[in-house]
Amino acid sequence: MLRAETIVDETNRGRAAKLGDLNMNGDSPALHPFPEGWYFVANRADLGNGNLIHKTWLGEEIVAWCDEQGRVCVADAVCPHLGSSLAPEVGSRVCEGRLICPFHGFAYDTTGRCVATPYALPPKSARLNVYATREIEGMVFGWWGIRGRSPQWELPESPQLGSARGHPSHEGSPQLGSARGHPAHEKSRWTGLRFHTLRFRGHPQETTENSVDMAHLRYVHGYESVSREGDITIDGAYLRSAFKFKTRVGAGGLLNTAFDVSAVAHIFGLGYSQVDFQEHSTGYRSRLWILSTPIDGTSVAMTIGSQVGGMERPKGVGFGLRLLPLSVRLNLRHLRCSESH
Ligand code: FES
Ligand SMILES: [Fe+2]
Repeated sequence: MLRAETIVDETNRGRAAKLGDLNMNGDSPALHPFPEGWYFVANRADLGNGNLIHKTWLGEEIVAWCDEQGRVCVADAVCPHLGSSLAPEVGSRVCEGRLICPFHGFAYDTTGRCVATPYALPPKSARLNVYATREIEGMVFGWWGIRGRSPQWELPESPQLGSARGHPSHEGSPQLGSARGHPAHEKSRWTGLRFHTLRFRGHPQETTENSVDMAHLRYVHGYESVSREGDITIDGAYLRSAFKFKTRVGAGGLLNTAFDVSAVAHIFGLGYSQVDFQEHSTGYRSRLWILSTPIDGTSVAMTIGSQVGGMERPKGVGFGLRLLPLSVRLNLRHLRCSESH
């Protein structure tokens, strides 16, 4: 499994010590709070119309917005002029696709370059510290690199491919999530995505390891007859794990039907997990994204995206969420009550 310790450097270790030891048993080195990788920032739907997002992300205050051409920028929320916060809470705003600092009115485009000031030519040296971004199904990810280095590996181009950009799909194993398993003409048969976010004390290493922990599927998720399908494969930062199980679906205690489900988890680093499910008797497909993002070194924000497909008239995301652990489902219950279909 991808260990956090393998993708951090010594520079960050001092910071880890300051941020606290996440190790619970005291026997092994603490997990580094901010492993290198791609981490969820925001949904594109929340970035339009001049909206400026501000959040704590891997220990940094960041802002995100997009311009009128749809170009997204994720940047440190610090103005390079004299260090003002660029958070909307202190008056920063997006105007005609540019981020305007509330202190002296410098304007930044989505490349991070200062393109205007109210009283002088924009200084060339005024440039935001920006993060590389990628987008999948409207989910925007930012790259967190050691010493700010550029991306070392890629996310998949689309969930249908199920393998990294430039990485071959894995032959000889179940094809859920592969190009062959989801031909392009089926894409339109998937529902839109629904999102929920949970925050809790933890680390993305812990949430990601669930994809290879077959034993917990029986006791945490309540699946029956769990077995692995093929070997776990690892290709750089990409890990693929396939398994099958039976799950029971009841309604008001009247029905109790067992369904045969195959699942494939596509893991890209510690911030991106995509799990594709297929129920064999109905053709029902469900897809979950489990996106764990370190907030401040002690807590993670786990954003869960879900969609269903594979049937002529998919009804909703209920089956997909049923594949989550009971504790997570209970936390989500109040959110689901407010959903409209
Ligand atoms: S500190 Fe932002 S424009 Fe001066
Ligand atoms: Fe799990």
